[in-house]
Amino acid sequence: MLYAVAAINLQNQTHMIFSEAAERNKQPILNILRPLLANHKAVLEVGSGTGQHAVFFAPALPHLVWHPTELPDKLAMLTSMCRSYPSANLAPPLPFDIDDDHWPAIQADAVFTANTLHIIHWPQVCRLFSRAGALLPQQGIFCTYGPFNRNGRYTSASNAQFDEWLKNRDPESGIRDMNDLRQLAEECAITSVHDFAMPANNRLLVWRKN
Ligand SMILES: C[S@@+](CC[C@H](N)C(=O)[O-])C[C@H]1O[C@@H](n2cnc3c(N)ncnc32)[C@H](O)[C@@H]1O
Repeated sequence: MLYAVAAINLQNQTHMIFSEAAERNKQPILNILRPLLANHKAVLEVGSGTGQHAVFFAPALPHLVWHPTELPDKLAMLTSMCRSYPSANLAPPLPFDIDDDHWPAIQADAVFTANTLHIIHWPQVCRLFSRAGALLPQQGIFCTYGPFNRNGRYTSASNAQFDEWLKNRDPESGIRDMNDLRQLAEECAITSVHDFAMPANNRLLVWRKN
């Protein structure tokens, strides 16, 4: 994970990791999410990481409840961040692994995940789409942010370098192709409805339950 600076929460001595990328991309993502989620009530975030997105989005979207989640061994860091920046509509973070048999018992009408699809393995991507398709109610949306390939090609030299770095670290990780995701989504009863170009050669892909 590309986290730059480790900060120390002096109050509880928990080491919090800080993502410079999340700091840069949180406002552009919020600009898209605000109108998209205007009529939604509860968002399940998968792979919340440091929680920088959760603590920024929740107070900016006060009409809904934001539910951050993380792998059990990273939950303490996320919880520490959420406690440091509390919000009435920011739910306590929950442990969640995409490989879990059961999803958190949350009645979410939206699922959000940032920078996870290139980290997890393809079978986990399939599982995530399948579960999102099953969990969401009709018209529920699934928002996926990160770098993506188009028609089997990188969209920038920096994404190509990043993919090489990812695969050296974990051969089963890597930037996913939008065509593969669209095909997968169709199998999971969700459809591509938006493809937003974002700064730094990222995209925000939005899927809707059919
Ligand atoms: C690159 S980080 C992105 C964090 C944050 N969403 C962001 O954009 O800054 C990828 C995240 O996916 C989480 N993750 C990896 N495998 C996972 C799994 N099997 N289930 C749930 N989350 C997972 C990691 O713990 C990590 O926090």
